[in-house]
Amino acid sequence: MAFSLPDLPYPHDALAPHMSRETLEYHHDKHHAAYVNALNSLIKGTEWEGLGLEEVVTGSFGKNVPLFNNASQDLNHTYFWKWMTPKGGGPVPGRLEKQIISDFGSVEKLTADFVAAGVGQFGSGWCWLAVENGKLAVTKTPNGESPLVHGAVPILGCDVWEHSYYIDYRNRRPDYLKAFLEHLVNWEYVDDLFDKAT
Ligand code: FE2
Repeated sequence: MAFSLPDLPYPHDALAPHMSRETLEYHHDKHHAAYVNALNSLIKGTEWEGLGLEEVVTGSFGKNVPLFNNASQDLNHTYFWKWMTPKGGGPVPGRLEKQIISDFGSVEKLTADFVAAGVGQFGSGWCWLAVENGKLAVTKTPNGESPLVHGAVPILGCDVWEHSYYIDYRNRRPDYLKAFLEHLVNWEYVDDLFDKAT
């Protein structure tokens, strides 16, 4: 069965002013759609046809670069829309907060590390909060790569491709990352993923 573009979980203007309608119209309706279309075309006749998206991502990594890039970007973006919510940001739920304090010292240290990872990713890519060997870790990856292919479970990721912020923030990637954490992150959903991963 072909993969399909998931709907945004909120209207296109719901994240404004931190992420505009225009950004979501391009990012979701055009960029994400292009990944899904390319994935459906590239997977035909391969050994991964018919598998679930996560299996395609982990199976094709290092074996079929174009297929991996598009499959992983489909998966990353499918999560990315859910990692944001109107009126997001705010306090981190209790059990996750406790683990963050245990692994980073404070929520402020985690957010500083997360911004530094996003700013430090040279060129296109993602920064992540992932569960790795039972502990939380902040990482960054190039292009469409995900912590999944390195044996970790991503529970939060931020797209730092220019298509994610250039309309609203131009070259100010740090401001975009700060707005993402302060106003957009759906910590309840991150907490759900943390529960499932631990
Ligand atoms: Fe993107």
